[in-house]
Amino acid sequence: MAVVDVELKIKRYNPEQDKKPHWETYEVRVEDTDRVVDALHEVKWHHDGTLSFRRSCVHGVCGSDAMVINGSNALACVLLVKDVGTNITVEPIRGLRVIKDLVVDMEPFFDQYKSVLPYLINSTDPGYEERRQSPEDRERFDDTTKCILCAACTTSCPIYWGNESYVGPAAIVNAHRFIFDSRDEAAGDRLDILNQRSGVWRCRTAFSCTEACPRDIKITQAIQEVKRAILYNRI
Ligand code: FES
Repeated sequence: MAVVDVELKIKRYNPEQDKKPHWETYEVRVEDTDRVVDALHEVKWHHDGTLSFRRSCVHGVCGSDAMVINGSNALACVLLVKDVGTNITVEPIRGLRVIKDLVVDMEPFFDQYKSVLPYLINSTDPGYEERRQSPEDRERFDDTTKCILCAACTTSCPIYWGNESYVGPAAIVNAHRFIFDSRDEAAGDRLDILNQRSGVWRCRTAFSCTEACPRDIKITQAIQEVKRAILYNRI
């Protein structure tokens, strides 16, 4: 552990006073084992209290602090200063309207998430029993249960930047999580939704989403599995 001086360049935008975004640079002193979010806190608490950014758990669980850090989407509470260096640029995630500084409007993202019916649908009453599932059946969607809805994947997708009607990788990941759940009865409905123009066929297999995911979900593979389920009617 060592104390380091970091130059933090942050893209700032306050729609109440700025015509367009601009960069501001701050010098902060942190431990090299601190996270980028600690450097941002240093700015907000000791340099400029008007800086706005989202964070909540600060432990990589809630998904609220996805940002573009040195050009790549990441969670500010996960990335260590010693892994990004002492010259750090921070921008809001792309493809969503900036409300202020690093805070973007997440409503379109959550509307797309909701559009794929991301919850268990089963019309039978299990009574006092649990809905049982074999370890093999659980394994089929294990990877996609790890999503924390941070939007790092969707906002790293060049198709999403150019086409806001595309549901995006995160919505497909969360559809996958239920499509392949043996206890669910609505896989066909979700596949119909994802077979539309706004669905999986927009994906051009760029792998940007997989690279951006802070939970290491194999997103491109999940999207391919959904495509195959539509094409071959196989779940
Ligand atoms: S603040 Fe919760 S994931 Fe970073």
